[in-house]
Amino acid sequence: MVLVFLFWAAVYKTGSACAAFLANNDDTSDANVTFNGNSYDLPAWSVSILPDCRNVVLNTAKISSVSTISSFTTEPLKEEIGSSDDSCSGWSWISEPVGISKADSFSKFGLLEQVNTTGDRSDYLWYSLSIDLDAGTQTVLHIESLGHALHAFINGKLAGSGTGNKVKVDIPVTLVAGKNTIDLLSLTVGLKNYGAFFDTAGAGITGPVILKSLANGSSLDLSSQNWTYQIGLKGEDLGPSSGSSGQWNSQSTLPTNQTLIWYKTNFASPSGSDPVAINLTGMGKGEAWVNGQSIGRYWPTNASPNDGCTDSCNYRGAYQASKCLKNCGKPSQTLYHVPRSWLQPESNTLVLFEEIGGNPEQITFATKQIASVCSHVSESHPPHVDLWNSDAESGRTVGPVLLLECPYPNQMISSIKFASFGTPQGTCGNFKHGNCSSNKALSVVQKGCIGSSSCRIELSINTFGDPCKGVAKSLAVEASCA
Ligand SMILES: *[C@@H]1O[C@H](CO)[C@@H](O)[C@H](O)[C@H]1NC(C)=O
Ligand SMILES: *[C@@H]1O[C@H](CO)[C@@H](O)[C@H](O)[C@H]1NC(C)=O
Ligand SMILES: *[C@@H]1O[C@H](CO)[C@@H](O)[C@H](O)[C@H]1NC(C)=O
Ligand SMILES: *[C@@H]1O[C@H](CO)[C@@H](O)[C@H](O)[C@H]1NC(C)=O
Ligand SMILES: *[C@@H]1O[C@H](CO)[C@@H](O)[C@H](O)[C@H]1NC(C)=O
Ligand SMILES: *[C@@H]1O[C@H](CO)[C@@H](O)[C@H](O)[C@H]1NC(C)=O
Ligand SMILES: *[C@@H]1O[C@H](CO)[C@@H](O)[C@H](O)[C@H]1NC(C)=O
Repeated sequence: MVLVFLFWAAVYKTGSACAAFLANNDDTSDANVTFNGNSYDLPAWSVSILPDCRNVVLNTAKISSVSTISSFTTEPLKEEIGSSDDSCSGWSWISEPVGISKADSFSKFGLLEQVNTTGDRSDYLWYSLSIDLDAGTQTVLHIESLGHALHAFINGKLAGSGTGNKVKVDIPVTLVAGKNTIDLLSLTVGLKNYGAFFDTAGAGITGPVILKSLANGSSLDLSSQNWTYQIGLKGEDLGPSSGSSGQWNSQSTLPTNQTLIWYKTNFASPSGSDPVAINLTGMGKGEAWVNGQSIGRYWPTNASPNDGCTDSCNYRGAYQASKCLKNCGKPSQTLYHVPRSWLQPESNTLVLFEEIGGNPEQITFATKQIASVCSHVSESHPPHVDLWNSDAESGRTVGPVLLLECPYPNQMISSIKFASFGTPQGTCGNFKHGNCSSNKALSVVQKGCIGSSSCRIELSINTFGDPCKGVAKSLAVEASCA
């Protein structure tokens, strides 16, 4: 016989103090368990918390699902107020040199692990090597890296890139007779901070790095050669992220689709008080700063796979990375929030470091308007009658509670666009009454919420009545804040 621990109680006691966690590990069946002489409903795949070993204050399947409907207004990047030059694009730029350009570079035989080498001073590490060949050739450069992205430049020109953890790339390259420069830019995009041995995972081009076949047919392993290293970019040292360096170029046509380039512009803050984001669609991969503050790394050209998304999503059961996927085929982020407190009304500086090629003239502002806030609390199981009695003596919970809250300070709930207690269907913005609904729902929610910045409504048949006995009910609300 196999024993599967579907239900468990973890009890913590000291003196007369007692707290307990009751769990149902079954991913489909709801359960009714007895604990210390009381019975408790445990929906599938949930945990109840009993801070006094008697009263449930939270069950993880009964929390509110809260969402908002927001819309974005697109505005062009406005030139700073008082800008004299309307003829130029407003953008200036500096090219970041390919390969070694800083005085603090150093040489070492072999390939270095990146995290230990940069000591977190920069995302970027250059690996550079010169080789002399008897004859020119077209061949393949094989590179193995622990991640997270690399760009390979041969004689100053981008030959290919690779991304991922434990990446192996084969890049076709053309080499000339005589001296050839191989410059590999390796970069991290944030380091893992969880999991077993995460700190020893490492990053960077740890090899091998091999030229697969030369003119004479032999391959050349470059892994143990005398590589020259540079931690960080020249521009990071000069401080263009603050926009202060004096070498910005703005005279000729703005270069677009260009690797390793810094861009800068000055802009006026969008008017109004709605939250501001910068829409970096059109850029390739890099980092952005507003008034010297980093607003994040961007990579809008890196889209997720097109498949794997489904309309239905069941949170129950063990987590897998492929579960409940949304936004298939889209990049993970295109909008970068800029707190209004970082912005001056008339003049601000936006600096971008672009690695692979983009067009900064496509950058726009997106200001965010919140049309609705919604909350939906469901009972996932047929409740037994005690759950619905707010009888303090019984030591059991009352029904779950719906929480509704305006997103910004100084706002109040101004109207209830939808409220249904029973079997409402749909999602925020598209809620519909089901075939079971209490006719008191709208007035109960209006009374409890309008004029407050937040409100709590208990799902109780004492207030809503019971529109369909024995059926699992839920409360769905859509409201406006002003
Ligand atoms: C092939 O050419 C490379 C580079 O020119 C040289 O280092 C290597 O010794 C040559 N191999 C043979 C077998 O001649
Ligand atoms: C960094 O160096 C330390 C000390 O030499 C070593 O223990 C650690 O494994 C290295 N980390 C990585 C990621 O290689
Ligand atoms: C390694 O390369 C650097 C830069 O080219 C050079 O200065 C140094 O002398 C070389 N080291 C050896 C041991 O060859
Ligand atoms: C950018 O440049 C690359 C390489 O030169 C080229 O393949 C690509 O089509 C260009 N993209 C755009 C949008 O111009
Ligand atoms: C961001 O810009 C792209 C391209 O201009 C546009 O398609 C997209 O709708 C914008 N996103 C938002 C939220 O405004
Ligand atoms: C849960 O158990 C109690 C006590 O045994 C019982 O009265 C009640 O009907 C049960 N509820 C469900 C939903 O099975
Ligand atoms: C209510 O709708 C559900 C499905 O949405 C259906 O199973 C049920 O039979 C309906 N009940 C009534 C009374 O129509």
